[in-house]
Amino acid sequence: MLDPRVTVLDALREHLHLTGTKKGCDQGQCGACTVHIEGERVLSCLTLVAAAHGKRIETIEALAGGAGNLHPMQQAFIDHDGFQCGYCTPGQIMSAVGCIREGHAGTDADIQEYMSGNLCRCAAYPNIVAAIRQALDRMKVG
Ligand code: FES
Ligand code: FES
Repeated sequence: MLDPRVTVLDALREHLHLTGTKKGCDQGQCGACTVHIEGERVLSCLTLVAAAHGKRIETIEALAGGAGNLHPMQQAFIDHDGFQCGYCTPGQIMSAVGCIREGHAGTDADIQEYMSGNLCRCAAYPNIVAAIRQALDRMKVG
């Protein structure tokens, strides 16, 4: 039985061995741990299992379709070199999907503002914005 005071991040990584979601700062400042809970992007390092009980959690592992098909956002990050070391990338991608679903990807400035919680030490920011613009065209929002 999982202690309800464990964070969703630790539950995913340490207990379910879903290590796609990354631990950066572990204190809500970097966005590396971003997942979706009930379709909303959240920082899993700040969310306790107790608060997520009974809710639908989606991680980067769930994003791709079957048969090896990448999600349009994953493909866009590849097409635009939206990463270097890749450590921030799962969080960037989950946040970027959320950004589009929220309707906050209309302009580069919007994308920069609404992705500002996701830090990239490799400074791949221009390519990340370009990737999100591409995915915006190809994603069915809903
Ligand atoms: S690990 Fe959660 S915000 Fe940095
Ligand atoms: S790609 Fe290295 S931290 Fe973002």
